[in-house]
Amino acid sequence: MTGITPGPMAGRTVLVTGGTGGIGRATATGLAAMGARVGITGRDTTRTRAAAAEIAAASGNPAVDPFPADMSSQAEVRRLAREVLAAYPRLDVLVNNVGGFWATRRLTADGLERTFAVNHLAPFLLTGLLTGRLTASAPARIVTVSSGAHTGGKIDFGDLQGECRYSGQRAYSQSKLANILFTYELARRLDGTGVTATAAHPGVVRTGFAAEDPSPVWKLFLPLIRLFLKTPQKGAATSIYLASSPRVEGVTGTYFAGRKPKASSPASRDTAAAARLWQVSLDLTGGTAGA
Ligand SMILES: NC(=O)c1ccc[n+]([C@@H]2O[C@H](COP(=O)([O-])OP(=O)(O)OC[C@H]3O[C@@H](n4cnc5c(N)ncnc54)[C@H](OP(=O)(O)O)[C@@H]3O)[C@@H](O)[C@H]2O)c1
Repeated sequence: MTGITPGPMAGRTVLVTGGTGGIGRATATGLAAMGARVGITGRDTTRTRAAAAEIAAASGNPAVDPFPADMSSQAEVRRLAREVLAAYPRLDVLVNNVGGFWATRRLTADGLERTFAVNHLAPFLLTGLLTGRLTASAPARIVTVSSGAHTGGKIDFGDLQGECRYSGQRAYSQSKLANILFTYELARRLDGTGVTATAAHPGVVRTGFAAEDPSPVWKLFLPLIRLFLKTPQKGAATSIYLASSPRVEGVTGTYFAGRKPKASSPASRDTAAAARLWQVSLDLTGGTAGA
């Protein structure tokens, strides 16, 4: 174990999913610079190890650990959780950052639609598997990166995985709405444990977002608007704030944008839909223990 780097997060341990690039990497770098021990995930072992070393160098904090795992696979999420629990005797913050947009409908190794699986079911499962450690480390925080795109989302319980009708935008907006419904339900379930759950909109940020499988509209407009997008550092500001600031100690069940609480869509505040989504997610992940 390396020595403790001084800073306001010294002595705290944080896991940031999707820390090899984009907003997650900037979040991990910011929190490491504040003295936290930071674990990052990424799909590829070499890329994840390289990113951890680069984040350590950029932040001046050697305590950055790579956890390679493809979170589209539930077996990989379970392995990731086991490795994190073995490596970290305490876990103060979980930042559920992994997420993406895919124009084409594809199934994961578990036979689930990819957007729903990666953006919603993976953080749902990982959070459930790590809740015991977070609770034992309380006060602790769970930050889930959603998006302003949730406002256009609808949870289609009759076609959650886009079997009848799929579009990248529809699947993405639904998954980002699911992130907020999950956060609010989690906050209710964790009430009194000292573990908070918040959701963040990072802004529109210049990252690798949608690059793997962009929609024709995205392909057309991205080169034009790229220069006007936020830097990943600016996009990480709300996640870093929610993970670290004493100002949000104890704040739970709240959606933030630009480091300020913001009203999320009426659909995101539907408690019956949140409870139903929780149950469906439990069924689809094999009944995770935890919150
Ligand atoms: N960019 C925006 O404008 C914007 C706006 C609103 C919300 N968001 C949200 O912000 C979050 C981060 O997005 P970003 O823009 O930073 O995206 P990004 O640049 O594409 O980064 C995604 C990160 O997730 C990792 N990742 C992707 N699929 C994975 C998987 N199956 N398993 C494990 N890791 C995986 C990637 O690592 P590897 O490629 O190395 O595996 C990378 O580190 C997402 O939840 C997104 O919905 C972004």
